[in-house]
Amino acid sequence: MNIVVSNVKGGVGKTTSAIYLAAVAASGSKWRPVALVDADRQASSAEWLEQDPIDGVELIEAPSERTVVRALDKFDGTVVVDTPPGDERIVRAAILRADAVVIPTRAGGVEPTRVLATLQMIPKDIPCGVVVCAARLGTNDLAVTVEEWAEAQVPVWGVVPERVGIAAGPGARLHREGLEEYARVFKRAQKR
Ligand SMILES: Nc1ncnc2c1ncn2[C@@H]1O[C@H](COP(=O)(O)OP(=O)(O)OP(=O)(O)O)[C@@H](O)[C@H]1O
Ligand SMILES: [Mg+2]
Repeated sequence: MNIVVSNVKGGVGKTTSAIYLAAVAASGSKWRPVALVDADRQASSAEWLEQDPIDGVELIEAPSERTVVRALDKFDGTVVVDTPPGDERIVRAAILRADAVVIPTRAGGVEPTRVLATLQMIPKDIPCGVVVCAARLGTNDLAVTVEEWAEAQVPVWGVVPERVGIAAGPGARLHREGLEEYARVFKRAQKR
């Protein structure tokens, strides 16, 4: 089971989503062993896991097309891939080996165009869904965003609320509400 977390746009919640999804996978014995493949040269998830290891999650640093392909082809278990915002070759290589693609995004603004660019990289037979990150629950912006994805027939696999405890990153305990919502995302990604 390979889950690739991707959006060509930076700063949307890829690393946060990858960490939480890996933690969710590792919390059930069914999905173990679990690897988090960090395909981003910035190594944000690698730094996160080095500072704050998650029980049952192995870190594989793979910041090149060659290493990410090898990690995805070789690892026997559940793999969650955190991808870089810019490097299309790495992203494409990871997506082509995905069983599901999770696309973190934000509500409002220019987000849809960047998500559409990401969607264009995903072959038709690979299931994908968006996750609205740092969402302000109850706002019109959020409601419109979710409605627009439904109209575009892009499934919304999750709406993760904006929480200081999620933004806290490594060093703080993984946030309960974050874990709950990413568990739903994981379930939807894995069901297709
Ligand atoms: N649910 C949330 N609530 C509050 N803050 C969040 C939430 N999700 C993500 N963030 C914050 O948004 C910022 C960007 O998140 P993150 O680093 O995961 O994005 P990214 O897509 O991996 O960025 P990059 O493209 O630079 O790799 C971070 O400061 C993160 O803490
Ligand atoms: Mg990142």
